[in-house]
Amino acid sequence: MAPAGLVWCVAALLVARGRADEHDHTYQDKEEVVLWMNTVGPYHNRQETYKYFSLPFCGGSKKSIDHYHETLGEALQGVELEFSGLDIKFKEDVMQTTYCEKELDKPTRDAFVYAIKNHYWYQMYIDDLPIWGIVGEADENGEDYYLWTYKKLEIGYNGNRIVDVNLTSEGKVKLVPNTKIQMSYSVKWKKSDVKFEDRFDKYLDPSFFQHRIHWFSIFNSFMMVIFLVGLVSMILMRTLRKDYARYSKEEEMDDMDRDLGDEYGWKQVHGDVFRPSSHPLIFSSLIGSGCQIFAVSFIVIIVAMLEDLYTERGSMLSTAIFVYAATSPVNGYFGGSLYARQGGRRWIKQMFIGAFLIPAMVCGTAFFINFIAIYYHASRAIPFGTMVAVCCICFFVILPLNLVGTILGRNLSGQPNFPCRVNAVPRPIPEKKW
Ligand SMILES: *[C@@H]1O[C@H](CO)[C@@H](O)[C@H](O)[C@H]1NC(C)=O
Repeated sequence: MAPAGLVWCVAALLVARGRADEHDHTYQDKEEVVLWMNTVGPYHNRQETYKYFSLPFCGGSKKSIDHYHETLGEALQGVELEFSGLDIKFKEDVMQTTYCEKELDKPTRDAFVYAIKNHYWYQMYIDDLPIWGIVGEADENGEDYYLWTYKKLEIGYNGNRIVDVNLTSEGKVKLVPNTKIQMSYSVKWKKSDVKFEDRFDKYLDPSFFQHRIHWFSIFNSFMMVIFLVGLVSMILMRTLRKDYARYSKEEEMDDMDRDLGDEYGWKQVHGDVFRPSSHPLIFSSLIGSGCQIFAVSFIVIIVAMLEDLYTERGSMLSTAIFVYAATSPVNGYFGGSLYARQGGRRWIKQMFIGAFLIPAMVCGTAFFINFIAIYYHASRAIPFGTMVAVCCICFFVILPLNLVGTILGRNLSGQPNFPCRVNAVPRPIPEKKW
């Protein structure tokens, strides 16, 4: 069971990473180009998204592809790609064409009015390039509502690749009950000089790094951190040195003068710093998880710098999950060895707690949000298959890797070899004002 599950999960992850669809981003003349409808939602809350067709929009007549098979990261982020049904072919202009008609009965109109009132906007994809459009507009006094019915697409191509897409919404139509509205589109292909590798550059905020001030502030915070760390370590070193000076002075005195019982300064704590914590199980699990999170953040930042993770939907999340699973031995190593050094006996229990602490917290939160999302039919609702996949990853990837890490940790650095002995009686911690 376990190996089969493992293979399945790894395969799922590999597929999730490797399958950049549509498929290699090159097209022959007149080859079909798919316009994917993604989500629609209020402009002022980017997290709240619904399926595009949850609004009473209508699709085109072409029905070849139905649902896009999404990757793990996309499923978790609520990507819901559905085929628009629009007939678009590479380098073939389309004049304004009506692709469907919609009867404005009461529920339909109400749905559109609600969406327009809340500034709904929608998102589409062509060849992985995102396109945004606004659903409609209200006039100033908020009585008349207008829907944009005409999607004017301008697509830039360079050789056999798509490098640029612009959408202009036109055809403002007033929403009058019991009339018919016609949705139309047009496509214009333009030659473009944008390189394929640079096609995502226009989505990055280009004005951000043009201003020197941002570089200055980044530099500033960086220097601030270094300065503070230096300051704190200097204070610590001074205190330590002062204590040492006092100890060595005492050494020169004869035994009679020495005040035996009264230790002070750093010596005061030496008998207690290596005392096992009162809850070694939780303590070592937290430390192990912390080490793992640190490793994950570090690796994901490095990967994000080297690879353009933002160009593919959901790939950041997929990468983070993959790296999290892969770095489980780190968690096991640090948590397990610390637990062993503290003399803990129930190491299997510690391993389970350490392995599932973060996944359980994240999944618990997600589960709760999921209930709300399902209730509102939001596209964020996580599909059942994805939940099963995440559970599989937890049990068949994270747990075994954690076990490896724990065994390594216990055997390699599980022996307590502290530089000083632990006092038998814990020293009472003096009460201090807060
Ligand atoms: C899209 O709009 C931008 C900015 O207005 C323009 O520079 C670019 O040429 C347009 N692309 C196409 C394919 O029309």
